[in-house]
Amino acid sequence: MFDDISDRYDLLNRVISFGLDGYCRKKAAARHVKDNRVLDICSGTGDMTVELLKFKDFRGMIIMGDFSMEMHKLARRKLDNFGDGRYKGAVCWVCCDAENMPFKNNVFDGLISGYSLRNLGDLRAFGSEIGRVLRPGGSGSLVDVAHPPNRIYAQLFYYYFYKLIPLMSRLFTRKKYAYKYLPVSLRTFFRQPEVLERLVSDGLGGGYENLLAGAAALYKLKKSD
Ligand SMILES: C[S@@+](CC[C@H](N)C(=O)[O-])C[C@H]1O[C@@H](n2cnc3c(N)ncnc32)[C@H](O)[C@@H]1O
Repeated sequence: MFDDISDRYDLLNRVISFGLDGYCRKKAAARHVKDNRVLDICSGTGDMTVELLKFKDFRGMIIMGDFSMEMHKLARRKLDNFGDGRYKGAVCWVCCDAENMPFKNNVFDGLISGYSLRNLGDLRAFGSEIGRVLRPGGSGSLVDVAHPPNRIYAQLFYYYFYKLIPLMSRLFTRKKYAYKYLPVSLRTFFRQPEVLERLVSDGLGGGYENLLAGAAALYKLKKSD
């Protein structure tokens, strides 16, 4: 599906989130400014990587991993033009599955991921891969849409997410199944504590912070030293 909607993906994100998707990515990226080797997994069109590169103090390199070639192509075009191409040498692309990554153990200082969790079939497999590829002491920051804890706010948010966003998605992507995908992806998705419970494992601890009053959540993982 992501291959199919890739050309409209960025625009759709900006519109349906009123630009707040960038704020959430920035909160995640900010935790990795001092890291040398960062994996942006399920990197899509590269918006999470861009948020990290925007930090002037970031001097590391970013490996972008995604299984959609179309998303990689768009990310590549975006990154080639970002900052007059100054960052070309700092970024590379790998076509891979997040639940079965082709990286060695203990290689990344940091791992970032934006809006990927609802798309993955097995969060425990993903968590276990994160624990494997992070170096001891390394950390992960994953942001995704979530379930607001306040009931009234949640009802308003669900109305927007389940009723209005599908209409907007249909308008922008002209794909019927993309129109169905978004509401289902959240309706059937775990609440924040359950997501966290699936991501952590022996040697990989963490917590989460609600963003936008719980309409999104930032999962902060840390591999023990
Ligand atoms: C909703 S997009 C998020 C893209 C980007 N991280 C962002 O912040 O906008 C989800 C991305 O995850 C990728 N994806 C989904 N499942 C994957 C998997 N198992 N392995 C690798 N990439 C996956 C899709 O191709 C898509 O690019």
